[in-house]
Amino acid sequence: MIQQAARDFAQNELLPGVIERDEKMQFPTEQVRMMGELGFMGMMVDPQYGGGGMDTISYVLAMEEISKVEASCSVVMSVNNSLVCWGLETFGTEEQKQKYLTPLAKGEIIGAFCLSEPEAGSDATSQTTTAIEKDDHYLINGTKNWITNGGTASVYLVIAQTNRELGHRGINAFIVEQSWEGVTVGAKENKLGIRASDTHSIMFSDVKVPKENRIGEDGFGFKFAMKTLSGGRIGIAAQALGIASGAYELALAYSKERKAFGKPIADHQAIQFKLADMSTEIEAARLLVHKSAWLKDQHKNYDLIGSMAKVFASETAMKTTVEAVQVHGGYGYVKEYHVERLMRDAKITQIYEGTSEIQRIVISRSILR
Ligand code: CAA
Repeated sequence: MIQQAARDFAQNELLPGVIERDEKMQFPTEQVRMMGELGFMGMMVDPQYGGGGMDTISYVLAMEEISKVEASCSVVMSVNNSLVCWGLETFGTEEQKQKYLTPLAKGEIIGAFCLSEPEAGSDATSQTTTAIEKDDHYLINGTKNWITNGGTASVYLVIAQTNRELGHRGINAFIVEQSWEGVTVGAKENKLGIRASDTHSIMFSDVKVPKENRIGEDGFGFKFAMKTLSGGRIGIAAQALGIASGAYELALAYSKERKAFGKPIADHQAIQFKLADMSTEIEAARLLVHKSAWLKDQHKNYDLIGSMAKVFASETAMKTTVEAVQVHGGYGYVKEYHVERLMRDAKITQIYEGTSEIQRIVISRSILR
């Protein structure tokens, strides 16, 4: 039912305007509002905090369907669900959950996760943003880069260094409201793909954050980021899977319609072998995504399989979308046929929430431990 609801929503509400939003870099405001109403913005959150109380399997099924059509929408959903809501529900205080998690889970407001900096992406322990402890508050200073939902989010989860001598054990995570004094939203990035999503740098200048807005114990911030990103990677793997399966479905349908040399191109072995490879790799990616989601639901460790799912699904998305454009020939190169957008959207899945290289670090460390 959840898969069908997400499929219907994507086909009926996202598909009609997706090309225009991509071209104009127009945030899907109305569509995100509808996703909130449908319960897609806080799917796994306990109903007592306004969420859907669903499992991770349901979440990845919905993510795949929405990503088949508009990855710009599914990244909003992924960041809100797996990074912001999950982080707050798992590690937040009761007051933080009442105040922030409930409107986030209902989709009344959107959240963003502020870890990356101009000089610290993969090397996430090298935080230059500082959070200096004063009497009853912290003062945050610094710049965060590539922040998904940066312009539309009302709430940021900000990672910052409090005690440099302690290295990553001196890092904290905070809940910061966009409206607070000293918070400045930089210009919107003009991106290759997921162009309708809202990516900004965010500047913090003497932003006063009350102590009750720190998440977890003093020094928990880096672990908070790592634990949250482990689950986030399942969401992005599901997004990559959706981009791949969306492109494959379009290529399959087109190959049956388009004729060359007197027969549908699907009757030529050159196209048949492409479709065979695409569907095989997508099926393998789907099994990894579902396994990682299932492990999370069973409260088993999902760090390793989540990274495997992310690297495999994102590389499958890239390969599949390139081949889907090839199957479409010249038509694949123009916007009306959707596959060129999916190809552009696929690339980011190999970069954000840990590049493919970072996933390979996580995987190799785990198997060699
Ligand atoms: N869970 C809990 N703790 C973890 C962990 C995990 N999954 N991974 C690491 N840690 C802990 C380690 O145990 C260690 O703690 P102790 O020293 O107390 O034991 C600490 O974190 C530091 O770990 P490492 O020594 O392994 O640190 P490292 O510098 O070698 O790097 C890394 C680890 C895996 C490379 C990490 O830096 C990383 O994941 N980098 C990528 C960051 C990333 O994914 N950025 C994405 C930005 S967010 C985004 O894209 C969101 C969006 O908008 C879409």
